[in-house]
Amino acid sequence: MKIAVPRERDGGEGRVSATPDTVKKFVALGFTVAVETGAGLMSRITDAEYQAAGAEIAFDAASTWADADIILKVRRPLADEVALAKQGALLIGTLDPHGHTSEIQLLADAGLAGFAMEFMPRITRAQVMDVLSSQANLAGYQAVIDAAAEYDRAFPMMMTAAGTVSAAKVFVMGAGVAGLQAIATARRLGAIVTATDVRPAAKEQVASLGAKFVAVEDDEFKQAETAAGYAKPMSAEYQAKQAALVAEHIKKQDIVITTALIPGRAAPRLVTAEMVASMKPGSVLVDLAVERGGNVEGSVAGQVTEVNGVKIVGHLNVAGRIAASASLLYAKNLYAFVETLVDKKEKKLAVNWEDELVKATLVTRDGAIVHPALKA
Ligand code: NAI
Repeated sequence: MKIAVPRERDGGEGRVSATPDTVKKFVALGFTVAVETGAGLMSRITDAEYQAAGAEIAFDAASTWADADIILKVRRPLADEVALAKQGALLIGTLDPHGHTSEIQLLADAGLAGFAMEFMPRITRAQVMDVLSSQANLAGYQAVIDAAAEYDRAFPMMMTAAGTVSAAKVFVMGAGVAGLQAIATARRLGAIVTATDVRPAAKEQVASLGAKFVAVEDDEFKQAETAAGYAKPMSAEYQAKQAALVAEHIKKQDIVITTALIPGRAAPRLVTAEMVASMKPGSVLVDLAVERGGNVEGSVAGQVTEVNGVKIVGHLNVAGRIAASASLLYAKNLYAFVETLVDKKEKKLAVNWEDELVKATLVTRDGAIVHPALKA
């Protein structure tokens, strides 16, 4: 049984799909592990550390992928990488399948069983495999760090002999995994934090972190959560009422961090250009939803822009900006899933295609796209 850990080809991707710790565990399960040279460098892991953990270092992509039964990736592989895979191999990663049907078709055409980790169900058994949570948590933290780096003032209130610096006012929009970590991080830095969300369950979570909840709490709000715990798209009426409340609030904020997403859809537009214009010069907005269309009007993917002295931060792959920590958690998520695909006594692959985790994440098999959410 061979596992391949390729170097990520996307230049901006610093994460890696295995760590020395998970390599050791894979070896104990009976795998040989081939790590492509340099794969861990941007996560501060050297080839020597992988080798010490029991991996073989492969000197190019072809020898990494050759004959691998499982390929562990952070991102969806490029076409020339897919061509290196063995028929029937399992390819596991964040495949970002929505809106990328032709790229997913390539995996099917190559005869790969592709697993999209972002489809992992949010049930207790799979919590340890929840890549969305592990990465969003770090992205929420990093968003505050990025905001602080762009902000010309201090976050905490400081009373000094030379005068008082007032605390920064931080508003977090979307209080899911990323938003809650952003709230906690901004609080630790001493900011005065408020937050909003359309899910009623978020209200208590926000309060428990010492932040104030700001939202229109009408009947629609009270029912605005799906059984899976995700947000529903809100009616035009609700959005208008909420926008009016937010518009008043944003004027007084120094930092706005937006994290609002609805699975499988474009990100909701929460901050208009008018709201941005109402903010004081020196204020900072960080749009964590920029990859999905953005919550902030005027945010540009991959760039920090400035409008009348207000900065809009649109960094891509924010979890990848804190790559060493993100890789540590991501690699553990993958290990936990792979462990369920192995017969530990026989030390061989034994995928139960009827398992709910397999069914939920499998996107391609036997030459076809098989996931219901991706079929035309
Ligand atoms: P997400 O990344 O899909 O969305 C982020 C946040 O944006 C959500 O809280 C959502 O309600 C909010 N949002 C959407 N539209 C909005 C709007 N128009 N205005 C304001 N906010 C808006 O969600 P995420 O962070 O992946 O998690 C959603 C929920 O699932 C959270 O409550 C989280 O705690 C829960 N969860 C449960 C897990 C489990 O039971 N195993 C694991 C992870 C998360």
